[in-house]
Amino acid sequence: MRITFCCADTDAPAWLDALRVAFPQAHVSVWQDGDAPADYAVVWAPPQMFFDQQTGLKAVFNIGAGVDALLEKRISPHTRIVRLDDAGMAVQMAEYVCHALIRHTREFDIHSAHMQAGQWTFREPLPRASFPVGILGMGVLGSRVAKAVAHFEFPVHGWSRSPKSKDGVRCFSGTNELPEFLASTRVLVNLLPLTPETENILNRTTLSQLQPGAYVINVARGRHLVEDDLLHLLASGHLAGATLDVFRTEPLPAAHPFWNHPKITLTPHTAAQTLRDVTIAQIARKLAALEQSQAIEGIVDVHKGY
Ligand code: NAP
Ligand code: GLV
Repeated sequence: MRITFCCADTDAPAWLDALRVAFPQAHVSVWQDGDAPADYAVVWAPPQMFFDQQTGLKAVFNIGAGVDALLEKRISPHTRIVRLDDAGMAVQMAEYVCHALIRHTREFDIHSAHMQAGQWTFREPLPRASFPVGILGMGVLGSRVAKAVAHFEFPVHGWSRSPKSKDGVRCFSGTNELPEFLASTRVLVNLLPLTPETENILNRTTLSQLQPGAYVINVARGRHLVEDDLLHLLASGHLAGATLDVFRTEPLPAAHPFWNHPKITLTPHTAAQTLRDVTIAQIARKLAALEQSQAIEGIVDVHKGY
């Protein structure tokens, strides 16, 4: 069996060593232009030339949860696209969102600024019931985030494409229920996949429907957010602030207005990182199941786009 590795911005030697341990019988190599056909590929944002040459792949394993960069490519319809399910990312995402939420609702930035100025101040506690959290996308990551947020006794709402029922979460689905979901939300968490339906979904119209003083946490993709609309609503005071992990252009350009914005907290697309060993173990399990024609989780539906 031949496994080819084609991942932008990764430590290829470390991945290759670990893949060779997981697949001792396979020939594993970093893809190069003109390579022999492989059976499987492990990829992150590969170039179109990769798919133009590797037309006989049984499956490509994406080493991330989001497949938007893959689905922009022309891929043989016979190649299955497999994404990561959790693989250690869900708990990181829960941690990240709870941190951003609690930092905002407990006013930690205000306390830090006061303490740095040598001021010992008292602030009235803000009732958590006044910060209903709405999660866009109730898949693998959104569901884990909902559970973690509910643990801190915030009201939690979730929005997905298909109807759901989850303990402790008020569930909304479909475009018809989006306005009610938004109107019920003060802290908005975006965990949608990037698809033609969800691109630019965080815009002036939708963000204006959030409760006054709303807070936005975007941990999905930069192209979900219309950046000028966010800046406008922060300036108007309708939005209190935002924590952003993902951007339309990454790395964030040096002159971007987000860099020094007093109401925006930034992180460099690091909310939930790919963990190499857990990821390779998941790929090994799925590849073995595919070889035996067994069903696996995480096969991408190219028509839905995720
Ligand atoms: P997932 O399991 O596929 O969940 C996607 C959720 O979005 C599902 O609940 C789905 O609804 C919902 N959805 C999709 N299209 C929709 C639409 N048009 N309207 C309403 N709901 C829609 O994905 P995941 O594993 O949770 O990952 C989510 C995203 O997180 C990834 O695509 C990626 O972009 C991002 N991510 C970011 C980082 C980071 O470090 N910042 C790390 C990992 C992932 P149904 O349940 O009804 O299908
Ligand atoms: C990271 O952004 C991922 O999609 O896994």
